Amino acid sequence: MKKKTLVTMPGDGIGKIVLGEALRVLQAVGFRGEYLHADVGWEFWVNEGNPLPDRTVELLAEHKLALFGSITSKGKAQAAEELSPKLRDTGLSYFSPIVKMRQLFDLDICIRPCRSFSGNPLNFVRRDGQSFVEPKVDAVIFRQNTEGLYSGVEWTDPPQELRRALDLHPKMAKYAETSGEDLAVTRGAIGLAEAQMASYAAMPYEIDMDRLIAGGLVHDIGKILEMDRDADGSYSKSRSGRCARHPISGAILAAKAGMPDEIVNIIACHAEEGQGRPQVVETVLIHQADFAAFNPLAMMAENLLIK
Ligand SMILES: [Fe+2]
Repeated sequence: MKKKTLVTMPGDGIGKIVLGEALRVLQAVGFRGEYLHADVGWEFWVNEGNPLPDRTVELLAEHKLALFGSITSKGKAQAAEELSPKLRDTGLSYFSPIVKMRQLFDLDICIRPCRSFSGNPLNFVRRDGQSFVEPKVDAVIFRQNTEGLYSGVEWTDPPQELRRALDLHPKMAKYAETSGEDLAVTRGAIGLAEAQMASYAAMPYEIDMDRLIAGGLVHDIGKILEMDRDADGSYSKSRSGRCARHPISGAILAAKAGMPDEIVNIIACHAEEGQGRPQVVETVLIHQADFAAFNPLAMMAENLLIK
């Protein structure tokens, strides 16, 4: 039988011990193969900024057979702190090599054959007074790897109901694609439009709902230039924001990106910059919804909102 090549990835900590033991088991059951060591884990994150180096991925792709020990994983913030000084502040972001390997090689199913060997002191036993029985175990466990512990946030376009259900979890906040405020404004503007359409016998103007929704979702896009995130996670006005508020910078961004003029009008005129200026009707609705969402909060901050 042709010898197999097995890529071995001990990784960190106990991985170095369990991998050695796994190799002993393979030897004992008659596996004869070539072993090729591959780098993975914390040491390579710290020193190279990549816990799963490309050279390891290439070995895995070539040999398609590997043993993996264990790795140390830490949160992104701590991982960034532990990077070697030359790699800090270079935009590197820690990721789980386990999830990455699973994604790269479509390892959706984990198959674990479990078989007991008589006399193994670690076997499952049932005690019965002084004696015990040792039931034979011969089972195969299948685990769906795309769920639970080793899954990341990796959907493409989940059904809306599922996305909404996921969004209930506080940990999902960082994956929110649209801020709560933008959603509140957009939903408010939709409500205003629908109320008018349901109430007027004949609409005196036409409301373009696609334009209204698109404009609502991007009306504050200029805030990415207007605000700076401080070290403590709070926001403060950037220099660019002091030069031009977000309706102006946002309109420039949208125009540069080739968005329709009407969307540029919504962005440019949704706040006080738009007072008295020509506007499409969707701008009027976004403006009103924006102030309805913003004013109570601003009034609360100044103790002007009666409770
Ligand atoms: Fe705004």
